[in-house]
Amino acid sequence: MESVIDIRNLALSFGEGAHKRTVLSDLSLSVNQGEILAVVGSSGIGKSTLLRVIAGLIKAERGDVLVRSARQSDAPVGFVFQDPRLLPWRRVLSNVLFGLERLDIPPTLQLQLARRALALVGLADYEDRFPHQLSGGQKQRVSLARALAIKPDILLMDEPFSALDLFTRHTLQDEVLDLRRKADVTIVFVTHDIDEAVYIGDRVIALTGEAGGIALDRVIDKNKGNDRDNPDLAQQVALIAAALNHEVSSDQRSILNP
Ligand SMILES: Nc1ncnc2c1ncn2[C@@H]1O[C@H](COP(=O)(O)OP(=O)(O)O)[C@@H](O)[C@H]1O
Ligand SMILES: [Mg+2]
Repeated sequence: MESVIDIRNLALSFGEGAHKRTVLSDLSLSVNQGEILAVVGSSGIGKSTLLRVIAGLIKAERGDVLVRSARQSDAPVGFVFQDPRLLPWRRVLSNVLFGLERLDIPPTLQLQLARRALALVGLADYEDRFPHQLSGGQKQRVSLARALAIKPDILLMDEPFSALDLFTRHTLQDEVLDLRRKADVTIVFVTHDIDEAVYIGDRVIALTGEAGGIALDRVIDKNKGNDRDNPDLAQQVALIAAALNHEVSSDQRSILNP
């Protein structure tokens, strides 16, 4: 299978001199085309930093980061954050158009792409609403549509559902799985919730503090279905939790499993 993200021996730190803090010291990772990679790890370990490196927003200090665009698009990466970051004075359609306006494409095509993205997240009938007229889950769907509108090859999602209630979170998790089928996109999904990682991911990796790299890399076997009650998946969750508990110190443990 072809990889779209290839990271070799990535190292990165913030600050200078006495304030220098190494976040990632030796991280290697490949993500295959069409894969959903879930990333877990305690708070402050470098999950968001890793996404920003993949997005090209921060440069690696050492190592190689290669992001391939399968479709030669000029906007290969879409980003979804925990907080939907919508512009309150713009209607839903206009919020989705926001990401397209900086691209060199005709307005009619922009409109077409924005509407397609809204349809993908089930909000075709909501384009005239303002953000304050939407539920939390709907706002996050708009944010997802904004990221999808540019037809990204890679979708980076940084704890996108952690502020939502459980029912909405489950619905949106299912929509992300659907989306991968409909939109042909590779997804890197950061979460601190191991259940969510196993449910969403074809593969789960855990970042580690000590080595500044990857503590665990597991392919999740979903041949028997991706049912929330599937005992095989529950077992995967337990295995990953055990590996992480072994890895992180006790003060970090409470952050990881709040
Ligand atoms: N721009 C920055 N300047 C300085 N330190 C940063 C910056 N971004 C992140 N950090 C630090 O890097 C570490 C990893 O941050 P982050 O990637 O946000 O962790 P996570 O997403 O896993 O919670 C944290 O200690 C954080 O304070
Ligand atoms: Mg983060």
